Amino acid sequence: MAKSARYAIGIDIGGTGIKGGVVDCKKGKLLGKRCKEATPQGAAIADVRAAVLTLLERIRAQELDTKVSALDTLPIGICMPAVIRHGRSMTAANIAPEWVGFDARSMFAQALSAPVSLVNDADAAGVAEVKFGNADAAKGSVLVLTLGTGIGSALVYRGDLFPNTELGHMELDGHADYERYASAKVREREGIDDATWCARLSPYFRKLEELFSPDVFVISGGISKRATEFIPLIDVNTPIVPAKLKNNAGIIGAALLGASGWE
Ligand code: BGC
Repeated sequence: MAKSARYAIGIDIGGTGIKGGVVDCKKGKLLGKRCKEATPQGAAIADVRAAVLTLLERIRAQELDTKVSALDTLPIGICMPAVIRHGRSMTAANIAPEWVGFDARSMFAQALSAPVSLVNDADAAGVAEVKFGNADAAKGSVLVLTLGTGIGSALVYRGDLFPNTELGHMELDGHADYERYASAKVREREGIDDATWCARLSPYFRKLEELFSPDVFVISGGISKRATEFIPLIDVNTPIVPAKLKNNAGIIGAALLGASGWE
């Protein structure tokens, strides 16, 4: 296998913000600033392309006090909330429908004038969490769930990713698309308390436990900042741990996959 680059740029396209920075892939840490642009309303392709380009220019304009010299030659990894099959975005749950079946990797590579690795956002977060997050998560089989605008999932076995699991869209207990019933955004929109929310999450985690028997679940996404408050309310036998990298997991994971030349 080709050697991974030490430094890479990671960009995380999310429901509200597009965030990115330069990542030290050996330490799993951001160097310099974490830059952010608002996600354009509707997340149409041309608007997202323009926002990513602006963001990349800001990331590259930084003066970094490290050994990284040529920021414009670093590998780039981008993650986004869609199934990504060999560079093509295949779904569009919370982005414009025109992304479905679109060769997004070629578009980004052309817009940024650089080779790009493109992956699903939860997959990127999962890879980063398993490598640099909670130590327990590094062993065996790990199911990372990002609770945010939607529910994303990443299935990692001994550090290797099985991409595009999309377990947030599971049908369960009469709910055709479970993320529309139990994501963090739904909790916020409906103004329900943690006990009510976790009563929705418990059957979901139990189902995943039944299907995958993971050694551990990791809860990622913005909400993981206060995960210790609600994790005890989720009724499942498998241990659940909060993500350690919090909001930077997607950026770091995208950079890691970019550095390794993920296709
Ligand atoms: C999308 C996934 C994504 C998740 C989290 C879901 O709606 O289908 O691809 O990983 O949201 O953003």
